[in-house]
Amino acid sequence: MEIGEETRLKYRYLDLLRPRLQKNIRLRHEVVQFIRQWLAAKDFIEIETPILTKSTPEGARDYVVPSRRETGKFYALPQSPQQYKQLLMVAGFERYFQIARCFRDEDTRGDRQPEFTQLDLEMSFVDREDVMALTEKLLIDLVKKITPYKKIQEIPFPRISYQEAMEKYGTDRPDFRKDKNNLDLLAFGWVIDFPFFEPSSAKATEGKKTEWTFTHNPFSAPKPEHLDWLMKKENIGEILTTQYDIVLNGFEVGGGSIRNHKPEPLKKVFEIMGLGEEKIIKNFGHMLSALAYGAPPHGGIAPGIDRLVMILAGEPNIREVFAFPKTGDGRDLMMGSPSEITQEQLKELGLKINKSE
Ligand code: AMO
Repeated sequence: MEIGEETRLKYRYLDLLRPRLQKNIRLRHEVVQFIRQWLAAKDFIEIETPILTKSTPEGARDYVVPSRRETGKFYALPQSPQQYKQLLMVAGFERYFQIARCFRDEDTRGDRQPEFTQLDLEMSFVDREDVMALTEKLLIDLVKKITPYKKIQEIPFPRISYQEAMEKYGTDRPDFRKDKNNLDLLAFGWVIDFPFFEPSSAKATEGKKTEWTFTHNPFSAPKPEHLDWLMKKENIGEILTTQYDIVLNGFEVGGGSIRNHKPEPLKKVFEIMGLGEEKIIKNFGHMLSALAYGAPPHGGIAPGIDRLVMILAGEPNIREVFAFPKTGDGRDLMMGSPSEITQEQLKELGLKINKSE
């Protein structure tokens, strides 16, 4: 770690020879193998979903890929398999999981990479307690088997509401550790009862109608007692979602929710977000139509594999648990990407580069 980051990333194949990184990458392998076996033993089926897909809202910018056959049209890389996994519930795969690559064009931080991996899972005929209990058991078993020298501070994991977390800790990913000097202490906890919507811009001035956006996931169901408000589009700022976030030592290591499994409430969410009928059908018609065929009640979660391994490995930066990470500004220094493409490629794709000053 005494060597400069740029040099390390440029010669990553040499950097990876070092014991510290060897250990991290092997730990990551063990974590993923454990998860696969654990879930398969509980009748979960691993299913791959497309990488060339369409924009799905997760709150970040999309990476897009131009279509050669349809000039001017683009695929989006998935920010998560959210919609596909819900469609798999309609398709009768009642317990799905995937070690899923996700892509988000957002500013990189110490705990973020532009492409990263989730343990994505979804279950039919469940409520919030079922998903939380399964996730908790998986994480406890994983720590016991893979990192037995670590101590989980509190089991069952403590729960705190969003409001209480903000009041007590000033953040929605509180660090529950009682002893921050103990590097082997794992303080898991759940944050629940988040507001469903928040004003979408600070511009929301007096007299003007508030514009709303979702805080976590537009596909979430509201808490059952707030469904009525959602349907009537009343008390929007007070509607709470079924969202549950799992935090570990001050990091958000996973998030999930119970979903709207009927089309009407899902449509209301988009209406509250200010989308007109046409846009709703264009972007989410497939979801509304699938749910109309009859979807089982369902919900899921997606722990971030990289963040989890980073904490288990005791690493200060998520890059240390990727074989080939990107820099803070999203570059791969070893491969030299992103890079220009040839004039022929641009022409074939019908693209023109407009280089600003
Ligand atoms: P969410 O957006 O909360 O939920 O993501 C789930 C988890 O993925 C990890 N994560 C990241 N890790 C590294 N780099 C990033 N840029 C990054 N962004 C997210 C975090 C986070 O908690 N579809 C929903 C899940 C669901 O509802 O089932 C989703 O993606 O650990």
